[in-house]
Amino acid sequence: MSLLTWVDFQSHGDDRGQLVALEEGRNVPFAIKRVYYIFKTKPQVSRGFHAHRFLRQVAVCVSGRCRMVLDNGKTREETWLDNPARGLLIEGLVWREMHDFSDDCVLMVLADALYNEQDYIRDYQQFSAEALDA
Ligand code: TYD
Repeated sequence: MSLLTWVDFQSHGDDRGQLVALEEGRNVPFAIKRVYYIFKTKPQVSRGFHAHRFLRQVAVCVSGRCRMVLDNGKTREETWLDNPARGLLIEGLVWREMHDFSDDCVLMVLADALYNEQDYIRDYQQFSAEALDA
C-alpha cells in the first residue's frame, strides 16, 4: 500500500481566481488543533527529518513546491507537493523529509494536536527500531 494518501479539495474557481476551504470533518479527516506553515526556506535547505508517534497531519503546498519524502521503515516514497487544491495525509509512524523548496514555497500543515516535542522521534535509528517493532 502506498504511503501517499491524497486529499483532494474542491477549488471554487471563477473569473476572479480560485478559493479552497479546509473544514474539519468535511475535507480534513480530523479535528484541527494546530496550523503551521513553512516559508522563506533558504536555498539548499531540507527540513523535517523526524517522525511522530501519534500525530495526524495534512500538508498542503499553498504556493510554490517542495519534494516530500515519506518512509515507514520498510519503504520510502516521494512526491512533489505543488498543488494548493491537494493535501497529503500523513499519519502513523512515518519518517518525513522535505527537500527542494522553491523560493515561493509556502507549505501549510494542519495537525490534530498541539505542538508536543514528546511526540517527535528525531533519530532515524530510533525511528527504524520503533517502526520495525510496530
Ligand atoms: P522543527 O521541528 O525544526 O521544524 P521541521 O522539523 O519541520 O523542519 O521546528 C522548528 C522550530 O519551530 C522548533 O523550535 C520548534 C518550533 N515549532 C513550534 O513551536 N510549533 C510547531 O507547531 C512546530 C511545527 C515547530
